[in-house]
Amino acid sequence: ERKCVLTGFWINDLGSNMTVSALNSRGEFSGSYYTAVSATTKEIRVSSLQGFQHFNKQQSTFGFIVNWSFSESTTVFTGQCFVDKDGKEILKTMWLLREKVSSLHDDWKATRVGVNVFTRRRRE
Ligand code: BTN
Repeated sequence: ERKCVLTGFWINDLGSNMTVSALNSRGEFSGSYYTAVSATTKEIRVSSLQGFQHFNKQQSTFGFIVNWSFSESTTVFTGQCFVDKDGKEILKTMWLLREKVSSLHDDWKATRVGVNVFTRRRRE
């Protein structure tokens, strides 16, 4: 059976691209995220991510944080890596996007939630 390690290039159902570095011995990884969409009107730029994966298990769970370089928001993703019956790797994730609001009164509307599915892509 194939392993399911996050290292490499991924694209999700929104068209966002993610590059993940090699995992270290503690299962930590870093990478970069180029989102296809934004909740802001700012110009989209590549942003860094940091995460963990239970890397020596098959179909393992992981989490990472994207610190958006072009906005004051933060997104956390958590998910699991699957290998389907054709041997294709798929990341099923959920995310929370926290946006900065200007007062405590506006806190109620500061968090978005959603799902993303990532598939592996080849470097171009
Ligand atoms: C922002 O809008 O402030 C930063 C960009 C947020 C992009 C979100 S994160 C969850 C969802 N999945 C993506 O690939 N992009 C959006």
